[in-house]
Amino acid sequence: MKDLIDDNTTDMAMEETLISPRFYTTNYKELDKIDVSRVRSEWDPLVEEMRSDPNKTHFKKTSDWDDFDFENLEPGLRKEFIDFLVSSLTSEFSGCVLYKEMKRQGTNEDVCELFSLMARDEARHAGFINDALREANIAVNLGFLTRKKKYTYFSPKFIYYATYLSEKIGYARYITIYRHLEKNPDSRFHPIFKWFEKWCNDEFRHGEAFALLMRTDPKLTSGINVYWIKFFLVAVYATMYVRDHARPEFHKAIGVDIDWYDDKVLRMTTEISRQVFPIEIDHDNPKWLIGLKRVKRDMLFYAKAKQTKGFIAFLKRIYGASRLGISFVRLYLIPAKKNKVPTTSRLQPSY
Ligand SMILES: [Fe+2]
Ligand SMILES: [Fe+2]
Repeated sequence: MKDLIDDNTTDMAMEETLISPRFYTTNYKELDKIDVSRVRSEWDPLVEEMRSDPNKTHFKKTSDWDDFDFENLEPGLRKEFIDFLVSSLTSEFSGCVLYKEMKRQGTNEDVCELFSLMARDEARHAGFINDALREANIAVNLGFLTRKKKYTYFSPKFIYYATYLSEKIGYARYITIYRHLEKNPDSRFHPIFKWFEKWCNDEFRHGEAFALLMRTDPKLTSGINVYWIKFFLVAVYATMYVRDHARPEFHKAIGVDIDWYDDKVLRMTTEISRQVFPIEIDHDNPKWLIGLKRVKRDMLFYAKAKQTKGFIAFLKRIYGASRLGISFVRLYLIPAKKNKVPTTSRLQPSY
């Protein structure tokens, strides 16, 4: 097997583009002030479930882990699959770092316990992906990543919106792939997909926790904040759309039509998010898909312009950035649908 240097893969995880997963930091003191008494009756059972650790023994290679040789993959697929693993690992680990830091800095018992349970899960998820990467003689240096990757500051409420969505979208992605491969086992080209079902239940629970955190304060999901919620919905959905469309070989290998897959995952996320968000994306508005395609086109143009140097490239970058900005605003301006939020939010993963 060809020996790849770890540094290359760590570089991939270090990469900062508009669509690559980021590391976040926040105002931990403010987060520490949360009072969960308003949602206590839903909070306690959720934390209890997480404490019981249903996935304690799940993230271990068992006899279900078939032998796999990365060298047998077509080069295009190999590149995209490694990219998929590294970007998933970066997101998982980004959650781990954020949650662990809260646990370290906070004093609020409820919040600290929740965040330490979530950090436990994300550390396992990241570690498991790294185990898979090791079979290609590559691994991401997580310690290096923690120290060197750039951190984006988000105030706690933005962390709630962004993280809630990424946990729920993570659930929807993993379960959609899992269900599809359950029906089409011949397309399951790597054993890691077999682990997705129980795995995504962790993400579902994390999303539940953020839904409850948002419900501790009604201001977080009303008034001006509804505009912020819409911003995060559009940004997170568009990012996923662009990122997935950049991996045609990977989706072909698992036998998934990317447009079908993204539509399914985004609609599922929207359906789940009705538990807490007062608005939802109108997936049936034909302008939505047209808008997504436009953002994808402009993001590719901008990314390409960023790779080249010189004056012309500089002009192209400015042009690309403004065109992308306009396309994003147009997507944002598509009217959202109103949603009546239920009095309790707890859901079970049922897809
Ligand atoms: Fe995770
Ligand atoms: Fe998670």
